[in-house]
Amino acid sequence: MKKVRWGILGAGGIADRRTMPGMLLADNAEIYAVMEINMEMAENLRAKYNAKYAYDNETDLLANPDIDAVYIASPVICHERQALAAAKAGKNILIEKPISLNAQMSEDIVKYCDENGIKIAVGLMMRYNTYHQEMKKLIADGKLGQIVSCHAQFTCWYPEMANAWRQTKASAGGGAMTDLGIHCLDLIEYITGSRIVKVGALSDNMTFSYEVEDACSALFKLDCGAFGTVDANFNIPDDAARCRIEIYGTKGSIRAEGTIGQMDGGDVLVTLSDTKGYDAMQERSESNDYKMTGADGNMYAREVASFGDSILNGTPVEVHAENAVHIQKVIEAIYKSSETGEFINL
Ligand SMILES: NC(=O)c1ccc[n+]([C@@H]2O[C@H](COP(=O)([O-])OP(=O)(O)OC[C@H]3O[C@@H](n4cnc5c(N)ncnc54)[C@H](O)[C@@H]3O)[C@@H](O)[C@H]2O)c1
Repeated sequence: MKKVRWGILGAGGIADRRTMPGMLLADNAEIYAVMEINMEMAENLRAKYNAKYAYDNETDLLANPDIDAVYIASPVICHERQALAAAKAGKNILIEKPISLNAQMSEDIVKYCDENGIKIAVGLMMRYNTYHQEMKKLIADGKLGQIVSCHAQFTCWYPEMANAWRQTKASAGGGAMTDLGIHCLDLIEYITGSRIVKVGALSDNMTFSYEVEDACSALFKLDCGAFGTVDANFNIPDDAARCRIEIYGTKGSIRAEGTIGQMDGGDVLVTLSDTKGYDAMQERSESNDYKMTGADGNMYAREVASFGDSILNGTPVEVHAENAVHIQKVIEAIYKSSETGEFINL
């Protein structure tokens, strides 16, 4: 099988923790070159993944004519420069979320790629969780009836640390909602097939003293009419966090715990209940509940394989970066609402 030869920009973080192990499982991917901020790190990663080349700068990696695509997994502040340089070098791009420091910058990057025939996908890899795909199908098939309410929560413990790029606006763009909530907002839109059209929000530094928010809660309306909430926190201990997504409709609900995160699977309870009339007792039976089963595989492998298929065979880019531009606009509206106290229409 023909393989996409990948070059990795910023190979030592999530690339090493998750995405490159996933790439090794994708039939159509070859980790061809890795780049890190110094040669020792780059060389260690080259050896670990059996790559052909190691670089300590992006210019040299992008000058390698045999590289078909780059995966940009560096700190967000580097994304704009690296994405534009990669596009100018003719490389297709899988870029981590958020695409860049703000929505306008991200839109300009995506526009430049689209105008120059560069394929660009974004690392919203939770769309590839088996159960999120099954949840989407249940809703598309009408099994939950009219969708009326959606909730998601993604949190972690992220205390002050010296030189942490995620803790300043200049290098991260935003805090918990930009880093974690982005997945929740995207998943709610992906699973329901609807877009967020109105938001109200609260955002603050409740616990930590860094510049970006450590807590943000948003209330929103989807274009299907449903209401929803997303909570993103940097100040809840990992053991105490639940990372949930719940969707409620007029014929049932889906309540998932542990599907939001970096592992495939999780616990998903589906309740399908075609209620016929009013029950003054409001009794709840569990006879209509079932658990999803069959989660299989690695989300990162599927993400890489899907984009590889687009590059090699011209299939549509499944998670085009435009999706992340839209979510970044939603997040900017969330921040604006928390500043002004007003609901914002998108
Ligand atoms: N999709 C996911 O599962 C997921 C998870 C975590 C992070 N992310 C995203 O991945 C990106 C990186 O986050 P992270 O957690 O890996 O950060 P990190 O700080 O753990 O790793 C970033 C890596 O980039 C390297 N780096 C620093 N400056 C660089 C430069 N100028 N050029 C190239 N590399 C450079 C660092 O040495 C480090 O190894 C962010 O956009 C983040 O939002 C995605």
